[in-house]
Amino acid sequence: LLVDKGNHRHFMAKEIHEQPEVVGHTLASLVRFDTDEIELPELPFDFAEIPRLTISACGTAYYAGLVAKYWFERWARLPVEVDIASELRYRDAVLDEGGVSLFISQSGETADTLATLRHCREHGQKIISVVNVTESSIARESDLVLPTLAGPEIGVASTKAFTAQLTVLACLAIAAGKARGVIDEAREKELVGALNEVPRHMATLLRDEVPYEEIGHALSKADDVLYLGRGQNFPLAMEGALKLKEISYIHAEGYAAGELKHGPIALIDEKMPVIVIAPRDGLFDKTVSNMQEVAARGGQIILISDAESGEAGCALDGLLHVPPVDPFVAPLVYAIPIQLIAYHTATLMGTDVDQPRNLAKSVTVE
Ligand code: G6P
Repeated sequence: LLVDKGNHRHFMAKEIHEQPEVVGHTLASLVRFDTDEIELPELPFDFAEIPRLTISACGTAYYAGLVAKYWFERWARLPVEVDIASELRYRDAVLDEGGVSLFISQSGETADTLATLRHCREHGQKIISVVNVTESSIARESDLVLPTLAGPEIGVASTKAFTAQLTVLACLAIAAGKARGVIDEAREKELVGALNEVPRHMATLLRDEVPYEEIGHALSKADDVLYLGRGQNFPLAMEGALKLKEISYIHAEGYAAGELKHGPIALIDEKMPVIVIAPRDGLFDKTVSNMQEVAARGGQIILISDAESGEAGCALDGLLHVPPVDPFVAPLVYAIPIQLIAYHTATLMGTDVDQPRNLAKSVTVE
């Protein structure tokens, strides 16, 4: 299979730009275009009858699982546990007979995830997986595969596979909500409607990368970066930090905004950029007060939001404007800014963005 970079400098840039299309394709494979209803292949279990869902994955796929936990709990009232694959396997987890384990993997070959899948099967779990490479070991060993239609992902740092995973997981959460009688058809249409808007919002964000180059300049001088988010955007903060670490080699940490005061606030000084993911949702005001705590200690604040700078209640060092979106789909849309921040910071620093040091695209050792 021959994959080229097209007009892009790096595979990663190309893959970031493919996301409107990839999300659109993946959605089209799960949604009936005439009725906007989710249409999944037959599941090997009934969502109405399971007491909980156990999700495991590694790296970026793990963060997709963490976002999905918010969705399954909010829209399906289904308890979810999310584990790093290499942890679930060895922590003597309680896996009830007939329970359901969900695995997320771009490559379908990650050794930790595969070993955990086998462990869960041995403990009587039904196995479903969300994978990008359908002829992979994880796909072969699953009772049901829900493919992400991201196409080949070459850049080591995952981008389009992540948003494709989120797309599948969002649809699965809606299907679970319906099966469990938590959401009705009207709500389903509303949520699917919000998902259908995602490619357009992504395309809008991808039209102008200049603000990201500017932020990249500022970040390229930093030794440490803190990423903050709340609720379903907390996993995104961790993903944003992971992207920065992976390709720019800047130390970054993702924190729940409310947890700032319990430790990381001690790190804040004038040299510390803090990137805040804060859509204007029900948690916006809470995050704003966390941001003010950072400002009061002289930290540099970069806000990613649909809000205007006046609403921040403090001086900002950067505002990356995102179109207003339904809060349900915010993690999909806000994925674009965090990827662009990492990409532009890394390219300015001259690192090998597609092949960062010490990392492999698919880690087939435990
Ligand atoms: C490697 C890659 C990460 C990826 C992780 C899981 O560490 O560098 O980008 O998120 O593996 O890969 P998978 O193929 O299972 O999604």
